[in-house]
Amino acid sequence: MTTQQSEEPCDSATQKLKRQMALVTGANSGIGKGIALAMGKAGANVVVNYVRHEDAANEVVEDIKKSGSKAFACHADVSQEDQVQEMFKRMISEFGTIDILVNNAGLQQDASFEEMTLDQWNLVINVNLTGQFLCAREAVREFKRRGLREEISSAAGKIICISSVHEVIPWAGHVNYAASKGGVMLMMQSIAQEVAPFRIRVNSICPGAIRTPINTDAWNTPQAYSGLMKLIPYGRIGEVDDIGRMATWLASDDSDYITGTSIFIDGGMTLYPGFATGG
Ligand code: BGC
Repeated sequence: MTTQQSEEPCDSATQKLKRQMALVTGANSGIGKGIALAMGKAGANVVVNYVRHEDAANEVVEDIKKSGSKAFACHADVSQEDQVQEMFKRMISEFGTIDILVNNAGLQQDASFEEMTLDQWNLVINVNLTGQFLCAREAVREFKRRGLREEISSAAGKIICISSVHEVIPWAGHVNYAASKGGVMLMMQSIAQEVAPFRIRVNSICPGAIRTPINTDAWNTPQAYSGLMKLIPYGRIGEVDDIGRMATWLASDDSDYITGTSIFIDGGMTLYPGFATGG
């Protein structure tokens, strides 16, 4: 009996995104980084978008390369149309096309409602909602231009919007953020409806509390962590790998019949945990 030696670092059965080109916005940290690494392991070549902290983006690139996939870091502020268009041009010239867009870049600017400035409102809406619109529009243009290649994927393109449990859970003190994510929900569904006939799939992932820099105050002390657990029936905080695995699956042909859906990854945060004993 002979054993076959594979040149590839990963088993081909796990390379669900082989020969596909992915762009992950805000991929230098947190959830975006987790998704970029997971997609690289699954065989995709990855553009690691960032707006600040180039060093961190370059580290993600090096990690992806270790898994045998290609990657490069690309600076662009997703809320700026010219920068988004430049980023897509560069991706298409270096990688030939785009198969997977992960609309992940996002931020919080928290304030009580009456204290919230117009700048805080605009920044959050511009990055979290307009940024997703601008990137999705460029991706759809390229998916339609290039069309379906069945040897690569059953779909002509996949868009994954990173939304939040706060696309349905109201959030006092974070009105701008909740409004941006509520907007992502109907933007995603409306794009999905419009582009489905072109075999383009558009879905959202809605994370609950995931251990990342955006919400450090919610988990980094024992008191904060036990307060957070009152909101999470499953009894643990989420990790970026929980999201990376789902994003990889949602970009792969294993989920080929899924479009226009929000998938909640939240340990039950959206189950109204207060009603477990009340009501
Ligand atoms: C927010 C986090 C928060 C989580 C659950 C996310 O969308 O960015 O700060 O911990 O929702 O409330």
